[in-house]
Amino acid sequence: AFGTEAAAVETGGTSLAAVAPAETAPAEVAPERLGASRERLDGPAKVTGTAPYAYEHPVEEPAYLHPVQATIARGRVTSIDTGAAEAVPGVLAVLTHTNAPRLADTEDAELAVLQSDAVAFRGQFVAAVVAETPESARHAADLVRVGYGEQPHEVELGPEGGTPAARTDHGDLEAAMASAAVVLDRTYTTPMQHNNPMEPHTTIAQWTADGLTLHESTQGVYSVRSVVAPVFGLDPEQVQVFAPHVGGGFGSKGLPHAPLVLTALAAQRSGGRPVKFAVTRQQMFALTGHRTPTSQRIRLAADDRGRLSAIGHDALEHTARIKEFSEGSSTASGIMYAAPNRRITQRLVPRDVPVTSWMRAPGHCPGMHVLETAMDEMAQACGVDPVEFRIRNEPELDPLSGKPFSSRNLVACLREGARRFDWQRRDPAAGVRREGDWLVGTGVAASTYPTHVFPGSSARIRYEGGRYAVFIGAADLGTGAWTALAQIAAEALEVPFEVVDPHIGSTEFPTATVAGGSTGITSWGSAIVQAATSFRDQYGTQPPEGAEAEGATQPNPDAERFSMHAFGAQFAEVRVHADTGEIRVPRMLGVFAAGRIVNARTARSQLIGGMTMGLSMALHEHSVLDSRFGHVVNHDFAGYHIAAHADVDSIEAAWIDEHDPHVNPMGTKGIGEIGIVGAAAAVGNAAYHATGVRVRDLPLTPEKFL
Ligand code: MOS
Repeated sequence: AFGTEAAAVETGGTSLAAVAPAETAPAEVAPERLGASRERLDGPAKVTGTAPYAYEHPVEEPAYLHPVQATIARGRVTSIDTGAAEAVPGVLAVLTHTNAPRLADTEDAELAVLQSDAVAFRGQFVAAVVAETPESARHAADLVRVGYGEQPHEVELGPEGGTPAARTDHGDLEAAMASAAVVLDRTYTTPMQHNNPMEPHTTIAQWTADGLTLHESTQGVYSVRSVVAPVFGLDPEQVQVFAPHVGGGFGSKGLPHAPLVLTALAAQRSGGRPVKFAVTRQQMFALTGHRTPTSQRIRLAADDRGRLSAIGHDALEHTARIKEFSEGSSTASGIMYAAPNRRITQRLVPRDVPVTSWMRAPGHCPGMHVLETAMDEMAQACGVDPVEFRIRNEPELDPLSGKPFSSRNLVACLREGARRFDWQRRDPAAGVRREGDWLVGTGVAASTYPTHVFPGSSARIRYEGGRYAVFIGAADLGTGAWTALAQIAAEALEVPFEVVDPHIGSTEFPTATVAGGSTGITSWGSAIVQAATSFRDQYGTQPPEGAEAEGATQPNPDAERFSMHAFGAQFAEVRVHADTGEIRVPRMLGVFAAGRIVNARTARSQLIGGMTMGLSMALHEHSVLDSRFGHVVNHDFAGYHIAAHADVDSIEAAWIDEHDPHVNPMGTKGIGEIGIVGAAAAVGNAAYHATGVRVRDLPLTPEKFL
């Protein structure tokens, strides 16, 4: 079934024949229509263990890297003794800040690896061993002795402080709060969390006469190229990046991190030998990004009919001192509900912590968690059903910009979800239903995520042997992007799915933007539709052998005229043990309005995956920083818990049939992130309904209910 697999391994790109060779493809198969339920093209290779991941790319005589990480959170390296490490058989080199090759550009402090003696967070690279085997590299790394001049550090985020990062003011929040019939003023926290894709980050780096070749587990081969090239003083074309199968990223592989730079530095030393580095799970907790903890104050004011007159959202986040990054946790509060008075602020607190980065639905995930928890509290205070309360505060236009929404079906999602969840039979009283030792409740929360097309993707289509090859430097993180892109190409070409062969995951293919911000399919698909249109304009339906056409994302004038977002409604049923506080989730339901759905099967998986990550956020995920030493104590799966099947009995995702002609040529809105947004709030709101206990600090661990 994988006729092109050998070629794919050879080039390092990722290419799969769609289903069957041309001669056996049934001629009468109908042209593709988006929305079909298609199995993943990469599925058989994945389940048979033949899908090549970055680290498995065969290279000649690889050397292996193991890093040495700082054991202080702030200060300087004052001495490094590498003698014992160098004496280990098989050790090829020990890199430190005194002998590592100099980088051309050290502007990005996260990537300025081994360029100075400064230590900015615990776990930062201070040395690296390159050896003939991973075992000797790891053993030798243990023998490197590092002396430090330690300085005082601070890693904890309190409720106050920070520098303003953004602010929006409409009307007069304070006056509205002072005069309203019902007001709410609460502060909530969400903890530091770590992206934990199944496949940790890996790099193979090799220098040749032409430049640098990277096999990288990444969300974007071109994102890697554009960031890495200037760091090493190369032209972009001198950096070749291959990302065959990727085992998840959740944002942590959206941009290159320090491990990639370290591997490339080591390869620069190795005289042309490729160097391989597989980041360990524990190392990921310091080196590949995380979600900031947040402290967020929500103020709401409403009249006695439950109509909001004011929304205030003040979000506080931390950022690494060496690289500023803000999630923008309060952003979504701008567009969710109508209110004439609104104040939204963001503040950032620099701390001696590892570099923060994207984690699934950056900002919207923690921000909507607290807004939707507060909305539940406010509905209770107003004596209005929480579904009805949201519907009552539905805005006609985007409250911030005043623009119309290109489409907004939050109300439809709430109503459809309520119908499916049998919401109308719900007793509004909290803490009154008991089944044996278990307190039982249900909860709801809304969900949203912005819709964008990133400019700058292009695609090429080539006709050969009765089949259409589609080339684009996109990445499939395991989400089904590969399959969805084949579907989009087939529909645009008006040909059956079975005759399209997508080729992705390589800088040999046309430029593609990152698989991030739920923009993969919207952006790459737009380029593919352009290429397909151009192909048909040039060649009609009887193309000659070797016919080719290219297309790129086009500016969308509607993007200026409309506010574009996906919406959803999350429902959960929760049981809390009356004596132990143990929490169980029998049921989750998400109903989404996210434009046209390309592949029903993989879309369902994406949405359920997001909801599962939201469940995980609700119940477990919490990176515990030890303020004395500055590191994450629970830096493995024994300590950092992630939701498993046993945490939920039934989890369902559904969607509204939404047609939005404004967003992009396919009418898709992106589904990678909306599934996580609001899911934890629905669980928390259900836990309140079960117990009468409002937990305002995630995660919902048992002791908080007792
Ligand atoms: Mo996602 S956090 O936008 O890669």
